[in-house]
Amino acid sequence: MGDGKAMQGTGRIPVVIDCDPGYDDAIALMLAAGCGQLEILAVTAVAGNGPVDSTYRNAARVLRFLGMDVPLGKGRAKPLLGYLVTSGAVHGKSAMDGVALPDPALPEVPPAAFDVLTKTLLDSPRKVLLVPTGPLTNVAVALLARPEIADKIERIIWMGGAIGKGNITPSAEFNAYVDPEAARVVFDSGLPVTMVGLDVTHKALIYPEQVEDLRGLGKAGELAAEILDRYSAAYKRRGFAGVPIHDAAAVAAAFEPGIIKTQRARVDVELSGEHTRGRTVVDLSVTTGREPNCDVAVDIDRERFVELLFSAIGNLGDSDEE
Ligand code: RIB
Ligand code: CA
Repeated sequence: MGDGKAMQGTGRIPVVIDCDPGYDDAIALMLAAGCGQLEILAVTAVAGNGPVDSTYRNAARVLRFLGMDVPLGKGRAKPLLGYLVTSGAVHGKSAMDGVALPDPALPEVPPAAFDVLTKTLLDSPRKVLLVPTGPLTNVAVALLARPEIADKIERIIWMGGAIGKGNITPSAEFNAYVDPEAARVVFDSGLPVTMVGLDVTHKALIYPEQVEDLRGLGKAGELAAEILDRYSAAYKRRGFAGVPIHDAAAVAAAFEPGIIKTQRARVDVELSGEHTRGRTVVDLSVTTGREPNCDVAVDIDRERFVELLFSAIGNLGDSDEE
């Protein structure tokens, strides 16, 4: 599985992260910033956990905390078709309720995610890992309008979908459900795609005692713990013993591909089923005979994931205060 080539000179893997912060997206950005193995070329915000105004603002807040001055683009307000479904019940009205982060000065006219994504990819001297951790709206728009960006994408490593049951409906995982048409565009793109779905992200759990350990790791640890305190509330209500850091699992797979076990399979996205819209239909047993189009994550090394997360948060220390 392609994991991106280290940038000449920096030894880091160039990535673009498209996200909908969102508690676990915020942790994913912290992991990406602190792991020391990724060069974050740009971040784009997509509508998902909240309206794109919220996810854009939250992404800017997290990047400011991280002291990261990278291009940040604001995506479309709606999925390709239909209306936006958000997840306020989990992430709150602001898409990151209860997390005390100062607001950065935002540009009068925010750069469009489409422009940031396409320019960053086309200008990069190396192929780039694209790590979407929300609905695939921005990625699909860019692929449809500027197909030439495909030549600059090493691989798309997406947190989304599920082999088994969904989380927003019994059939569909949230990121796929919000914009199934966009997901189909990506799976039909012919690009190398890794799907890091609920089957493995529900194993990427951080337990309460580990949240307390995180709290002791400087200001970054305090922020991560505050985020997870909030995020875990929704999962406690669902009977989870720990909080699944869905999006950080996809980021970890970007710089340490061996952390997940994948199986090559055909993935199709249901668009029209009354009860199944947004389902990622994963043909692991090759019953359809359709050409495989995805490396589907089927397992994750949870211990290693936790190790990577703690190490990255520890590296961030007091982050932009340094
Ligand atoms: O289903 C989990 C996904 O939906 C995560 O990306 C989370 O941030 C939400 O967007
Ligand atoms: Ca997300």
